[in-house]
Amino acid sequence: MIKGRPVLLGVSGGIAIYKACSVVRRLTEAGATVDVVMTKSAAEFVRPVTFEALSGRRVLTSLWQRDQALSHIELGRVSDLIALAPATANLLARAAHGIADDLLTAILLAAEVPILAAPAMNDNMFAHPATQANIARLKERGWAFVGPAMGDLAEGPSTRPGRMVEPDEIVSHIERLLNSGTSRLNGKRVVVTAGATRERIDPVRVVTNPSSGKMGYAVAAAAFSRGADVTLICGATELAQPVGVEVIKVESTEDMLHATGAAVANADVLIMAAAPSDYRPRESATEKLPRADGAIQLWLDPTPDVLIETRDRRRNGMIAVGFALESGEGIDRAREKLARKGLDLIVLNRVGVEGAGFESDTNQVSFISDRAVATLNTLPKRAVAERLLDEVEQLL
Ligand code: CTP
Repeated sequence: MIKGRPVLLGVSGGIAIYKACSVVRRLTEAGATVDVVMTKSAAEFVRPVTFEALSGRRVLTSLWQRDQALSHIELGRVSDLIALAPATANLLARAAHGIADDLLTAILLAAEVPILAAPAMNDNMFAHPATQANIARLKERGWAFVGPAMGDLAEGPSTRPGRMVEPDEIVSHIERLLNSGTSRLNGKRVVVTAGATRERIDPVRVVTNPSSGKMGYAVAAAAFSRGADVTLICGATELAQPVGVEVIKVESTEDMLHATGAAVANADVLIMAAAPSDYRPRESATEKLPRADGAIQLWLDPTPDVLIETRDRRRNGMIAVGFALESGEGIDRAREKLARKGLDLIVLNRVGVEGAGFESDTNQVSFISDRAVATLNTLPKRAVAERLLDEVEQLL
């Protein structure tokens, strides 16, 4: 989604600069064109040549650089976004007061594009009223901020904010700012469900399935990067929490039903990528059941269908998307689920196809609506998520 987009990364002098190297790397991998502008103290930490190698472009460090093609005025215009990482207390102070005593602050003063800052500093410096006032002033002028996070600093342990957030988080916020202007999902409330639910037999044994949650997580991350407010309702999964997304953890299908029922009342879009367990033990023991010598008999009752049971609670006009996991061709069964579960679109996943399914990083799907069937090639789950959101945008 950010392929070909020009981004200017302003780097000031703090130890978190090592993370700025990863930010450049990730942006260029995603196809963005990154121009790095460094302050004098940034160049004391890391030499410009490092950023030149990562961005594949000339790094700018001074107002007086003779071989510079563009002036500071033009540099503040030609990118789609300016990101500052790390943004030190000093850089924020100079920007808040309109001081333009080096190339980066001169660009900021002349800038006509959105600005995102990732502050990084000592925790006392961040808490100081002067820094807080500078940040408030910059926010008033429309700057966006990400972080700082809490946690250890170069100078020792800390439990207060100061530390720069991780590169992934910065890149996700950059993507979101770049995309939100053009996406119909910008500002929309999107609810995504992901992963398997678990039904307890006893405190240590469960009925579940091998859904990894990867598909739903990819959809949630993609929706965030398009400017949506995303709530992710997820069952058991080992995946790291996606950036910027509100996560509600649930265990059983019944829990997922309650969380989804509450969320759809306010949602513009529901994407039901979870694999809720369809059965639960009739009885769930509170103590661990001793191992028996022979076979045991387990009665399983059906769980509620989350899509069907929450249908009446959907906000008027909400777009509902489901997934259908089918053996064999499956289009007719998927169509039947589309109608029975009141969906606008269903994503057909086939069981047993190479490069598709629960634990895979890729997926091979068809999008089925009342009107059409579109079959995609095998793609990474994030790419499937982007294509799915393209379809959802058409329906909004
Ligand atoms: N789903 C649901 N509640 C359940 C089971 C499934 O809301 N208890 C949702 C899934 O998240 C998915 C859609 O229904 O979006 C279809 O799920 P799938 O497992 O393909 O179908 P089932 O309804 O479980 O039917 P079957 O297992 O017979 O194919």
